[in-house]
Amino acid sequence: MTNDPNSTGRYSTASGKTFDFVPGFYDFHVRHYGHRKSVSNVVETSVNAAGDPGAIDYATIRAKFSRERTSVKTLVDYVSRVVPTYQLLEAFADTRFARPGGRALDIGCGRGVHLRLLKGWGYIDEAVGIDVYDHCTGFDESSLDRMHRRFKWLRYAEAMQDRIAAKPPSQWSEIEYLIMNRVPTVRKFAADYGHRPGSDIYRLKMKRRPSMDRFVAGNVFEFEDRFDLVTSFASLDWFPAERIFGKVSSLLADGGFFYVWVTNWWHAMNTTNVFGHFPFAAQRMTKSDFDAYVRATMPEHHETIMNSYSYFDPGHPTLADLVDTARAHGLVPLTWKQNVLPDVARPRGGLSSLGVAQLDQAGFSSAYEDAQTVKTGLRAVDMLPYSYSILFQKTRQDTKLDTDRLAAISESMQQRPRADSAAASVIRRLGSAIYNRFG
Ligand SMILES: C[S@@+](CC[C@H](N)C(=O)[O-])C[C@H]1O[C@@H](n2cnc3c(N)ncnc32)[C@H](O)[C@@H]1O
Repeated sequence: MTNDPNSTGRYSTASGKTFDFVPGFYDFHVRHYGHRKSVSNVVETSVNAAGDPGAIDYATIRAKFSRERTSVKTLVDYVSRVVPTYQLLEAFADTRFARPGGRALDIGCGRGVHLRLLKGWGYIDEAVGIDVYDHCTGFDESSLDRMHRRFKWLRYAEAMQDRIAAKPPSQWSEIEYLIMNRVPTVRKFAADYGHRPGSDIYRLKMKRRPSMDRFVAGNVFEFEDRFDLVTSFASLDWFPAERIFGKVSSLLADGGFFYVWVTNWWHAMNTTNVFGHFPFAAQRMTKSDFDAYVRATMPEHHETIMNSYSYFDPGHPTLADLVDTARAHGLVPLTWKQNVLPDVARPRGGLSSLGVAQLDQAGFSSAYEDAQTVKTGLRAVDMLPYSYSILFQKTRQDTKLDTDRLAAISESMQQRPRADSAAASVIRRLGSAIYNRFG
C-alpha cells in the first residue's frame, strides 16, 4: 500500500488530520493560473519573509530591481490603477470630509500611478512616494494622459456590456462575446477586483500634470515626515500590521487620513497565489503543516510556494484585527468596504471564496472549521472578501466627552442657513410661484 498523497487522493498531517483531495481541483488551478516560476523580488524585499525590516539589504535591492524607464502601456493596466484610486475618492465621499487634499505619501508606491492620478485629477497638492526600489523617477507621465483619453471612451463600451449581460451568454454573437471579454472596462475589471464604481468614474478629468513631487528610494520604517494623507495600495500585507500602523500613525498629522486597500489572507486564493488540492489549503493548516503538505505533494514547487506564502503578514489579520490594530495607534475607521469577487472563479485565477461557498457548502463549512483551529475567533464572513478598502482618520487620543463638548455638538447641529440676500429671496419667491402654478 502506498502513502503517496498524489495517488491516494488524501493527505494526513503529522497530527493525524486528513484532507481529501477534491477531484480536478489542483489541475483546474494549474490550467488557469499555474505555479509561479520565481518570486525572488518578493522574497528579497519582504519584511515578513526577512523577519525584520532591518534584516534587508536595501542598497542591493535598489541596485537589482530599479528600472530606468517605466510607463503604463495598456488600458488594462491603466484601469487597474484608476479603479482603486477612484475607490479612495468614493470612501471620502462616504464621510463628512468629502474629499482628500494636502500633502500625500504613498507607501510601497511602485510606479506611483495612484498618487499621480490623485494629483492629476486635482485632489492632492503634493505627491510623495516611497518604495525600496525605483520604478518611479523614469516614469513616462505622458502615458497617463494618453491612457486617460482612451479610458473615457470605454464608457460607451460599458453601456453596451450592460445591455449584452442582460442576455444569457449562449445567445451572444461573436462581436458581443468580444465586447464582453476583450474591452477592459471598469465593469470587466470589477470581476477581478470585487468593486464596481459608478459610471462617474469616466468623467474624471486630468486637470494637472500627473507628476510626483518627490520619490524616496528606501525603507518606510526609516522615513520621517508629516502628511495629511497616507495611502497604501496593495502594500500593507508586506508588513506586520502592528509595526506598519504604528509607523503610519507617526507619519500622519493630527486629523490626517490613512487609506488602505489590502488583500485578505483568508480568501480562497489570495495574492500569494498559493493553491493546493482542495479549497483553502493554505488557510486551513498551520504554516508548518502546510509546508509539509507542499513538500509531500508538490515538491518541485516547494521553494517558490513557501517563499510566496511568507511574504504575507504572518498575523494573517482579519478586518477586525486591522481595525483593532489601527485603533491602538490612534487611527479610527471612518468607512470601509469588503470587496467580494462576484464570480465563482477569477478570470485568470482560482476559485473564489464565493465560488466555494456557493458550489460546495459542506466543503466551505469544513474549511471554515479547520481555519478556526488555526485562527481563534475567525468568522465565516472573514473568508469571503478578496480585499478590504478602509479609510482611517488619525484622531487625538487625549480628548473626552464632557458637557462642553456635547454643548458644542448641540450647537453645530442647530445651525441655520444665513439670512437670504435680496436676490435669493426674489429667486425663492419666483420659484414657488412657478411651482404652485405648474407643479
Ligand atoms: C504589491 S507592490 C504594490 C505597488 C503599488 N502600490 C501598486 O499598487 O502597484 C508592494 C510594494 O511595497 C514595496 N515595499 C516592500 N517593503 C517596503 C518597505 N520596507 N518600504 C517601502 N516600500 C516597501 C515593494 O517594493 C512593492 O513595490
